[in-house]
Amino acid sequence: MIVEPPRQRGVTVWFTGLSGAGKSTLAEALAPRLAALGRRVELLDGDAVRTHLSKGLGFSREDRDTNVRRIGWVAQLLTRNGVFVITAAISPYREARDWCREAIRDFVEVHVSTSLEVCAARDVKGLYQRALAGEIPHFTGVNDPYEAPTAPALSLDTQGMTIDEGVERVLAVLRARGYLPDA
Ligand code: ADX
Repeated sequence: MIVEPPRQRGVTVWFTGLSGAGKSTLAEALAPRLAALGRRVELLDGDAVRTHLSKGLGFSREDRDTNVRRIGWVAQLLTRNGVFVITAAISPYREARDWCREAIRDFVEVHVSTSLEVCAARDVKGLYQRALAGEIPHFTGVNDPYEAPTAPALSLDTQGMTIDEGVERVLAVLRARGYLPDA
């Protein structure tokens, strides 16, 4: 008889929010914390995905939905193999996120709810200034929609919150849902 070791239960932590809200920063801080707890971790960051898996896609609703479903598909494959997946794409449309939730099942949605005003003031990549000047069509939050989650597992406004606090709150949700042992 072949006795297999018990499989580690995987999960996808799905960050969604405006450009500059802090998704990637939180994701990059969360990843090593999970690795330190012995989890296998994969980070699917929006910008990185768009240079590989979704190269050539633009920002129409159709292209964004394709991008988000591709991320969801890969996250599903990894999650069912026990990996802790962290995604960080704007993923502005509820329907595409819900498709991912259905496919992945072990899915923790985290709304990085930093306001448009704060994101535009930070303007890390200088894109808001250009979007507000009308130079970028379909820019999320400026002239393209962002549909906030109606029932996220967690909402994190990164203004007035340290990265570490945000990470701790995500870890607390993962403990509460049984993906991590109690501290
Ligand atoms: S998503 O809508 O398909 O989920 P994704 O997270 O992959 O978006 O890419 C968003 C990043 O692309 C932003 O952080 C920004 O750097 C860049 N970007 C370029 N054009 C746009 C645009 N029109 N709307 C939003 N982000 C854009």
